[in-house]
Parts: sequence; C-alpha cells; structure tokens
Amino acid sequence: MAELVGPILDVIKFISRNASKYLKYQREFTEYVDDFKQAQADLHAKEVDIQQQLKDEHHFGKMPKLEVERWFKKVEEKLTHAQHVEDKVSKGKYLFRSCLGKLVDESTQAMKEVHAEGRFSGSLMVNDPSTIAVNLPTPELTGAADVREEIYQYLMGDEVGMIGVCGMGGIGKTTIMKDVHNRLLKESKFRKLIWVTVSQNFDIQRLQKTITCQLKGNLSDDEDTIIRAGKLSEMLKGQGSYVLILDDVWKSFSLEDFGILKPTSNNGCKLVLTTRSERVVRSMGFKKVQVPCLSMEEAMDLFLSKVGLDILPDPTLESFLKIVVRECDGLPLAIVTLVGCMRGVTDPHVWENAIDELRGYIRNIHNVEDKVYGCLKFSYDRLKQRDQECFLYCALYPEDYAIIKEELIEHWLIEGLIDEMESRKSMESCGYSILQNLEENCLLERAERDSYNSRFIYKKTDHMHDVVRDMALHITRKRFMVKARMQLKELPKEEEWSEDLE
Ligand SMILES: Nc1ncnc2c1ncn2[C@@H]1O[C@H](COP(=O)(O)OP(=O)(O)OP(=O)(O)O)[C@@H](O)[C@H]1O
Ligand SMILES: [Mg+2]
Repeated sequence: MAELVGPILDVIKFISRNASKYLKYQREFTEYVDDFKQAQADLHAKEVDIQQQLKDEHHFGKMPKLEVERWFKKVEEKLTHAQHVEDKVSKGKYLFRSCLGKLVDESTQAMKEVHAEGRFSGSLMVNDPSTIAVNLPTPELTGAADVREEIYQYLMGDEVGMIGVCGMGGIGKTTIMKDVHNRLLKESKFRKLIWVTVSQNFDIQRLQKTITCQLKGNLSDDEDTIIRAGKLSEMLKGQGSYVLILDDVWKSFSLEDFGILKPTSNNGCKLVLTTRSERVVRSMGFKKVQVPCLSMEEAMDLFLSKVGLDILPDPTLESFLKIVVRECDGLPLAIVTLVGCMRGVTDPHVWENAIDELRGYIRNIHNVEDKVYGCLKFSYDRLKQRDQECFLYCALYPEDYAIIKEELIEHWLIEGLIDEMESRKSMESCGYSILQNLEENCLLERAERDSYNSRFIYKKTDHMHDVVRDMALHITRKRFMVKARMQLKELPKEEEWSEDLE
C-alpha cells in the first residue's frame, strides 16, 4: 500500500499543478492577451527597424548576412502563427479560454525569444561574392559635374536605357565614366557593373571574352561568333540588372551580333558607351550626352590642383598661369600634360620662356584637337633625348595596354636605350627614374590596372593614353611601322611600308 501512495501523490500533484495553471489562464486571460499583443507589436517594430537598417547599409556588392536572413524567416513564421492565434482568440468561446490562454502564452514566449535574437553585432551586410565590385582608380575630378549627374540620373531612372557619352579625345569621357561607375558601387540598383575597353582595334572575340570573364563564365575560342553571341546573351540574361560600359568605341556595331541584350523596362539593364564620334552614338540609337570642355575657371582649378599651390603667392606667375590655361582650351588632357612639365617651376623667366615656346607650337591652330597635339609635343620636346627614346618605345605596345613596368625596363635595356653602367641594378634604377619622369610629365599614366600574370604574381603597370600614343606614333612614323594586336608572324609586305620609312 505504502508503495502506491508515493506515485499517486505525484500524479495528484501533477494534475493539480496543471489544473492551477489552466485556472490561471482562465482567470488572467485578458492579461495574457495583452502580453501577447505587446510581444506581437514589439516583434513587428523590430522587424521594421532591421529592414530599414538593411536598406541603409545595402549597396552594390553587399548582401544581408545569412543569420539576418534566417532571423527574418523566423520572424515571419512567428508573426504568421500569432495571427492565427489572434483569429482564434477573436472567435474563441469563454469556455475554451484556458486552452486558448495556453496557446496565447506559448505564442507570446516564442515571439519574445525571436525578438531577443534580433540583436546583431556589427553590420548586417557582408560582401556578395557573386558581384564584382572594384573601385576604378580616378584622379581627383574637377568640373564636369553636370555631365556626370546627367549620366547618373539616366542610369538610375527608367526612361533611358542606352547612353552614348561623346566628346573629343582627352576631354575626360573615360575619367567621367569611371567616376560614375564608382558612384554606382554605392547603390543597390544594379547587381553587376561590367567595364569593357573596346579601343580602335575592335575585336569581337576579345570583347566577348572580357565580358564573360567578368561574369565569371567561360567561352571557348573555337566556337563560332554567333554561337558565342548566343551563349553570352544567355549569360547576361541570368545576371539580373546590370550596367555594361563600353569604353572608347570607334565604329558602330550590331549589339545582337555581339550577344549584348538591349535594355528594356523589364530587364532593368543599361548600356553606356563612350566615343569620340557622334555618328556612332546616333547610328547605334543611344541617347547622346556631350562632354563639354572645362570652363576657364574649372581649367584653372585643375591646373592649380596639380601644379602645387606654392606658386600662387607670386602675382607674376598667376598671370603666366592664366595664359597657359587659356592655351589649353579647357581640355583636361592638355592641362594635365602641361602641368607635368611646369610642376615645381617657380622662376618667372622660365615660365615666360615656356609660354613663348608653347605659343610657337600652337600658333595659328584653331582646331582644339590639333592644339592638344601641340601641348603634348611641347611636353615631349622638353624631355632629355634618352627619355624621349624610352617614351617613343612605349608606343610599340597596343592601344589601351597595361604595360608591365619591369618588362618595359627590360626591353629598354635590351634595346640599348639606357647607357651602360657599373651594374645591371644601377641600369634598372635608371629605368625606374625615367619611368617616374614620364609619369610626372603625364606622358604615361601610373598603374591604371595593375595586372596579375598567369601565376597570379602582382605586377605594377603603366598605361599610355591613346591621344599620347597617337602623338608618339606620329613622331616615329618615319622610323617605326606599328601594327599592334595583329598577331604578325612575319614582316609585312613591302608595299605596306611607307615610302619615307627610314
Ligand atoms: N574632369 C577632370 N578632372 C581632372 N582630370 C581629368 C578630368 N577629365 C580628364 N582628366 C584627365 O585627363 C586625362 C584624359 O582623360 P580621359 O582619358 O578620360 O579622356 P577621354 O575623353 O576618355 O579620351 P579618349 O577619347 O582618348 O579616350 C585623364 O587621364 C585625366 O587625368
Ligand atoms: Mg577614353
């Protein structure tokens, strides 16, 4: 008998404990419901706050942390369940209050738990590995604010899908587009930004490859161009919204043959091209955006920002400066090149002399494009002969080519452009100082795109602006015949050599 008493007492205790809880639900039902409503409102408010925080932090190349996504799922589950409970409560009979009370209490506790889990440390975002988000290096931009804003607004709006940025060589089209590209990285509108440098030597296979590479896809070299175009357009279709920037287009081409999808209001994609030719923009049906020259004031700001403000206190120099800037006709490339060779000069006589010389170069030239040539040639002529030779050698590389510094110096040494010295190391150092001089004179641009070779070793590179390269080719037209990216295996036929080639 005694053995039975213990378990019976346990059962009675259990029943009475539960019964008292059920009685509590029955008696304090209203309090339970109030607590439930409070938890429901708190959780909902937290969900809205976190959503807003996500919105604030979200921009190109970022995605919400997995734990945040999972938390949102849980919130949705608990709030949906709470809605069912609420419906039951509103229809519930007085007699079932104790059962309902239990349901209400359980839902309240679950919502409180999820609420407590919604405390995330640090940012709610991580990098999205499926997007390519690289900031393109640009110089500090002066002016061109309106045109940059216009392009940006077309990209962010829904009305215009294809934008053609045009203007003469060296006016800043590439620089402006890089700036807009970098601004888009801070937005969440596009999933991908694709940059392709087209250049004069339009090679559809190379360009298709560049795009697929950026999409982390693969195209076989052996396939027919049409098949490749089909594959590329399929790849692009799968990307969601993107901006494709085709820089430096020289002639019009068919987007379909290439495999580039036309933007529609549904696919959310945009195309931008930059070109010197208004005809390209028109014939390809893009919306034209004209890049204007810098105003005199902007040109002056650009010159001053590069030349060093220490020359300003001298009023004589200021007046010389105005003359030089006016001669550049608001063309950024002419300005930065002239700054290059006048930087650090504080002697008014040197300025005066330089202005006389510069005028000699551009006297009677009214066409701005030819004036740029004059400014570049002026800068080139002020180099030492050895540096001139080394500079001209760079024009042998194809247009828009990332020239690996180490390799270039090696070539200079092999070609005997650098005089013999006591050690190879000193000759290499001399090569680097020539490179630095060319960079400071803006005849080479520093490390636009540093390159990685096949073994992924980081290599520093230089880039020759295409207008500068044209000038170098013009200077060397009697000495070199340059046929870049033609995969030449033997010497061109005699009739291709110009008559006056030495
Ligand atoms: N708004 C600007 N502010 C400061 N520097 C600028 C600006 N625009 C251009 N530059 C400078 O001028 C140089 C030439 O500009 P950029 O290469 O953008 O010209 P482009 O119009 O693309 O020429 P091309 O038709 O030959 O491709 C740049 O390397 C940059 O240093
Ligand atoms: Mg350009």
